Parts: sequence; structure tokens; C-alpha cells
Amino acid sequence: MCGIVAYIGSRDATPVLLEGLQRLEYRGYDSAGLAVVAPGGLKVRKTTGKVRELEAGIPRRFKGSPGVGHTRWATHGVPSDANAHPHLDGAAQVAIVHNGIIENATDLRARLESEGVTLVSETDSEVLAHLIARAGRPDLEDSVADALKLVEGTYGIAAIDSRQPDRVVVARNGSPLILGIGDKEMLAASDVAALVRFTRQVVHLEDGEMAVLRADGYRTSTLDHRPITRAPLTVEQGQDSYGLDGHIHYLHKEIHEQPEAVARALSGRLDRRFSTAHLGGLGLDARDVAGIRRIKLLGCGSAYFAGLLGATMIEGLARIPADAESASEFRYRNPVVEPDALYVAISQSGETADTIAAVRELKRKGARVLGIVNVVGSTVARECDGGIYLHAGPEISVASTKTFTSTGVALALLALYLGRIRDLGPAEGKRIIDALSEFPDQIRRVLDTEADIAGVANRFNQSASMLFIGRVSGYPIAEEGAQKLKEISYIHAEAYAAPELKHGPLALIGPEVPTVAVVPDDALYPKNLSSLAEIRARRGPVIAVTSRSDIPDAEAALLVPRSEPELAPLLLGIPLQLFAYHVAASLGRDIDQPRNLAKSVTVE
Ligand code: F6R
Repeated sequence: MCGIVAYIGSRDATPVLLEGLQRLEYRGYDSAGLAVVAPGGLKVRKTTGKVRELEAGIPRRFKGSPGVGHTRWATHGVPSDANAHPHLDGAAQVAIVHNGIIENATDLRARLESEGVTLVSETDSEVLAHLIARAGRPDLEDSVADALKLVEGTYGIAAIDSRQPDRVVVARNGSPLILGIGDKEMLAASDVAALVRFTRQVVHLEDGEMAVLRADGYRTSTLDHRPITRAPLTVEQGQDSYGLDGHIHYLHKEIHEQPEAVARALSGRLDRRFSTAHLGGLGLDARDVAGIRRIKLLGCGSAYFAGLLGATMIEGLARIPADAESASEFRYRNPVVEPDALYVAISQSGETADTIAAVRELKRKGARVLGIVNVVGSTVARECDGGIYLHAGPEISVASTKTFTSTGVALALLALYLGRIRDLGPAEGKRIIDALSEFPDQIRRVLDTEADIAGVANRFNQSASMLFIGRVSGYPIAEEGAQKLKEISYIHAEAYAAPELKHGPLALIGPEVPTVAVVPDDALYPKNLSSLAEIRARRGPVIAVTSRSDIPDAEAALLVPRSEPELAPLLLGIPLQLFAYHVAASLGRDIDQPRNLAKSVTVE
């Protein structure tokens, strides 16, 4: 969702903030703005559109420090210059940037208006600037703390006051906030991506905490001023990982990074001696595993689809009942939490609000929760009892690709580990290890067929709608394939379990509606062929994704190398990423920042 960044130090804040905003833009990109403290007071610029449009409108003399910046994903109020952040108080002395949702904003607006305050935007966030000004305490941090006591909802905020140019005040409740410790300068941002150009030393604030940043250091406390100490962490990724490396789009780069990403996910985790996985971060010993009666995987969007696939791998290899549910539904249905169940939260960013809420609900009820997370030190990673890091590197494009595949690999490792403690024999364990070891090279071979996949994409790019089908372990891949296509090409796409076609969606089939069929070479292959025949009998074009070069009834086939049945679906997902990419590219879509979306959905 929205990205926020703040700077204090001896440099001019403007270029630092603009660079930070560019790195954060993938979190929201409908408007952007910044404010700096200059000798004559606050200087503010904001605009509808992207950061490059903001930058183009900034005059040379726009200089100052400290400063705050924001890139927005609209929740309250349309994208407009007035609704863009920073928001100011009536006297234009306080400027705030906010990520999150103020749930009692309507009441607070009414209260402020009854006191004669004029609000100039439709946003929930603007109330914060007025509440801070109204608190009127000598120290900005006290005014911010007073204001936040009146607020219900979620926030990561950064505030500056032109009368106190020696400090920036930041606070967090439910939306990420990370401090960056520089050399005689301090930064804060909603994502480390905005910080790594300037420092690798970071401090994650927890919910209910705030910090006062000065050029020469920082002080952290709770909102009621109890001091707290947090040891800085060193961020792994350097700024190089955030570049395009010669690719036109981040999505293309990230699809092509998959062999290395998967190799990193596997690195040091294949235990050939005992034919199992070595997963040191789980914190589950053999006795714990023996007592698990059920596994529930939770995540949102593509993370949920990866969870569906993980459930089939866990049931197949470990014979433990497993299912996946979207975290956004789970959190609201007062779930029954079983004492002998293991819960697994899946989140690339580790900051998805619904997934965090599900983890907290589970923890509150005493459950054991593992996290499968890419971003080190993120909220899900910190709040789970243990877990598996993906080590996929930063994923900048809004649509997830390499982290979907790496999550699948992490889940395969989990299934192998659990299986080897339960009933999976060593020969079976070795079969999985051998297959996983081949993955990086097999993915490379799929990527080498990009030109063929692009050819198929160009044949079908004028379709108004496509269906995606798959059975059992192929079904999550059909879901993910449809998700990729709709997200980045805006072509309507729906996924169905193949046997469900005849229970309704078959009515849609005809020459104008292609079906993308995920067809693993497994025991269900003949059943899948029956589904394809049903589609062809109604003159529906079929694009098959398969490792079988002899597949009948398909107008086009996207071929992948053969793998073991439990793992093959993951390979089948790769051509579908390139298929969506080339359809979207041929239609001239904004591939890395598709309309209405944002990476990391940190609001409900
Ligand atoms: C789709 C996509 C989203 C995310 C979802 C969860 O391409 O990227 O559906 O998978 O918003 O995000 P994380 O994994 O960060 O919790």
C-alpha cells in the first residue's frame, strides 16, 4: 500500500526523498508528494500520478531538511492533488505522511470541523495533521503521541514541524515502519527498499511504538513514553538488487531470476544423508511433528494459491490432513483453533494486513504458527514461532512470480521434512531431493522457450476472456495462471477445477474463449484428457501446459521438463508467468504497476 519515507541530516532532503519514493512506488502509485523544512517554513509539492511527475514539477530551489515523502494507493478519496500526502495543519506548520486507515476519521473530522478547522482533502489521514497541531505541546513527539491516542485504526506515520527542524517523529500501529541509521543522518520508511541506498543498518518499530529521529541518532519509546531499546539489524540486499539489470520490466527480471532464487531457497536445506530437509528455523522437533494432526496454510492472493499447492504436497508426502484458506476470510470467521494443528502463514512481504491479523488471532488462541516469508524481519516473520525464509531477493513488480515459485519450493521442503519424520521412506525422500536439485536447471530450460511462449501469447492476446483449468495439484497453478493474466493484462480470466467445468462453466466455452489447461503427467492425465476433449467438442481452443509432447486436443502446448508428480505443478507455473507477461506486453500494459493494485496490501 502507500509508501512513506522521512529524512533528517545535513543533506538536502528532497533528492533523498525522491529516490526513496521511486523505490517505494511499487507499493502504490496513484499520487505522490513531499514536504521539507526550509528557512521560511514548510515547502510542499504533491501531485496526482507517479513519482516521476512529482519530480518533474519540483523547482531547483526546493531544498530543506528534515522532510517527509509519500506515494499513495487511494483508500479514502479519489487520487487527486488535494488527497495526495503530505497533509498539513491549518497554519501549514505540521506535515504528516500516513500509511494505513484511520477508522474513526469521520468522527474526528466532524469534531475538528465543529472546532472551526477546515479540512481540505477527503482523506482519513488529514485529521492527523490537525490533531497534532491542536495538541500544541512544546515537543512534537508529545503532540504526536496525544494525537495518536485519539485515533482508531492502523498507521505508519512520519511528522515534521517547521518550528522544530531538529527532529522527525515516526510511529507505528499495524503498518510497517523501519528506521535507517546513517552517518550523521537518519531515515525512516515503510520498506527497507527506500533505505538501502543510504544505509544497511535498520531498526524495525513494533506496533504501539514511536521514535524521535535527529541527525545524530534516534530514541524509541512506546506511545506512552516508556523508553525501549532495539538492536539494529543489518539488511542483506544491497542497492544492486533493486535495479532492472537490462530488463525492460521488473516482472521480466524476476521471472528470469527464478533459477537462482530457487537455488537459494534450496541452499543448505537438502540433507542427503537422511534424505530429508534441513530447516533450522522451524523450531519443530520430531516429537512435535509426530503430534501434528492437521495443517492449515494461510495467505492472500498468490500466497494463498501457493498454500493450496503446499497442502497437496503435505498430504501427498507427509500424509497429514492439510488445507489452505485465504487469510482474509479466516481472520473474520472466529476459527476453531485445534491444539494439535500446525498453522503456516505465507507472505512474501510479511506485511499483508489480513495475514498478520490471522497470525495474531491464532497466537491469541494459543496456536503454533510458522511463517513462510521473503522479507527478513517483517511483521509476519517476527510474530511467528518459527519458519522458512525464501531468500528470493527483493520482488519489486506488483505481481509475484519468483516468490510464488520459491514459496512452492519452501513448502516442498516442509512436506519432505514432515514426511520423513512420519511415514515417507528414505528412497521416497531421495526421489524428492533429486527432483528438487534439478529444479534450477529445469526452470532455466523453461525460460529458454520464452520465444515460443511469446508466440502463443501473441496468438491469443485479443481474447476477451480465458478459462484456466487444473486438477488437484494442477488446480492451484490454474488459479495462479489466471491471477497473473488478469492482474497484468486486464484480460478476464477464471480458474476452475477441471471436473467442475461440466457443472456450469462449460456454458462459456466456444471458439472465442480459450482454455489454458494445466496438465501434469501424473495419474490423472487420462482424466485431464477427457476435460480437453469436452472443450474441443465445443470448439474451444486449448492451450495446454504440460511435460507431454504428445498431448492431443490442444491448439498450442507450452512444454516443461518432466519432474516428480508432487513437484511438477511448480514447473508448470513458469510458462504461465511468461504467457501473462507477453500477453500484457503485446497489449502495452503497465506491467510492473498494473492499475488499481499495489504490492504489499498493508490495509484491510
Ligand atoms: C499477485 C500478488 C498478490 C499477493 C498478495 C499477498 O501477483 O502478488 O496476490 O500474493 O497480495 O502478498 P504477500 O505475499 O506479500 O502477503
